[in-house]
Amino acid sequence: MSSNADLQQRRQNAVPRGVSNSLMVYADRALNAELWDVEGRRFIDFASGISVLNTGHLHPKVKAALAEQLERFTHTCFQVTPYESYIALAEQLNQAAPGSTPKKTIFLSTGAEAVENAIKIARFHTRRSALIAFSGGFHGRTLACISLTGKVQPYKAGFGPMLPEIYHLPFPIPYHGISVDDSLAALEQLFKADLDPARVAAIIIEPVLGEGGFYAAPAELLRKLRQLCDQHGMVLIIDEIQSGFARTGRMFAVEYAGIEPDLMVVAKSIAGGIPLSAVIGKAAIMDAPGPGGLGGTFAGSPLACAAGLAVLKVIRDERLTERALHMGHFMTSRLKGLQVRFPCIGDVRGPGAMVAMELVKNSRADQPHAELTAALVQAAGRRGLIILACGIYSNVIRFLAPLTISDALLKEGFNLLEQTLGEVAS
Ligand SMILES: Cc1ncc(COP(=O)(O)O)c(C=O)c1O
Repeated sequence: MSSNADLQQRRQNAVPRGVSNSLMVYADRALNAELWDVEGRRFIDFASGISVLNTGHLHPKVKAALAEQLERFTHTCFQVTPYESYIALAEQLNQAAPGSTPKKTIFLSTGAEAVENAIKIARFHTRRSALIAFSGGFHGRTLACISLTGKVQPYKAGFGPMLPEIYHLPFPIPYHGISVDDSLAALEQLFKADLDPARVAAIIIEPVLGEGGFYAAPAELLRKLRQLCDQHGMVLIIDEIQSGFARTGRMFAVEYAGIEPDLMVVAKSIAGGIPLSAVIGKAAIMDAPGPGGLGGTFAGSPLACAAGLAVLKVIRDERLTERALHMGHFMTSRLKGLQVRFPCIGDVRGPGAMVAMELVKNSRADQPHAELTAALVQAAGRRGLIILACGIYSNVIRFLAPLTISDALLKEGFNLLEQTLGEVAS
């Protein structure tokens, strides 16, 4: 049997350091919200492989759909000989996307690839090139995506030059004193001083910052962006890659703002752990690029589409949007209770089960406690709880347990968190 230490040694010799690991825990098997490492130790999984397992590890219905597909075929390439599951999943996502305008969907394999394709589609449709994104936003690790991402270290530094004509606006974060008015004033200033709105192809925004620290974009901002995009003929791209598929208590987080995106990018929890992503958008925009302009060898693979169809059924059958609200209520009230005992918890926030706590020094939002956050992740790991850090200042713990986790296991995980805080924060 391999040990974690042996594997860590082999990993250091065989795999570059650029791909980092949160814990030195090597997975052996997993089921729903639990994971066992190669040494047989059991963990409660509050990370879901970074928001990929809203329906849990190896959901029986996803597993059955994959097994059935494995009996038929694993690959033909949709561009060569297409198959029904791709179309059926596109139909269902077109229905599920917010707004009444007819939609079309293209599948890709990773979140970054979906973002890249959304940018290509928006540029082709508008015949414009400039892009607006937000500071603290994260859109992936390809060259176009790091250009859009609003955090220099570790994502952009050393990888330049970035794509030209990308402009960043401040993301409103009331906890850090940045208001919607500040963001909109920066946009007004940008249009006045630097950039003709008639050159802007798209604005891209996460409805809840994921890697940036789980800050929800106020509905007021999203509505204003919708209006500005309509006014200037710009495409509004909503990045639901981390927030989608019932996580926030709605199928998509943007639903809270009541607006219809032009394009929406989704990935992560779309297919229960099988790589799949998509751009879902207004049909007239999606149809802009000509045949051959979009696609990919593995994009929308038969296994991924089969899993995606099963995931959508599980979300409906198990009412996971309601479940996310129930879990979110439990998690935020438990964290608010802990905040009284542990003043290092500066802020606790949702929406739904997209819950985070921000760790600070001296109860001050402007004194982020990144060292404590890193120590907490490691100490929780030693106690058998997998949690993840994030945030512009690396001082946020995000909670992304599968929405299929039992109440008992969720409670057990929070008991472990409380013990860990007691160990590390005192
Ligand atoms: C909001 C958001 N967009 C895009 C991405 C990139 O997705 P991927 O890592 O699958 O390329 C991520 C990944 O964390 C994300 O959270």
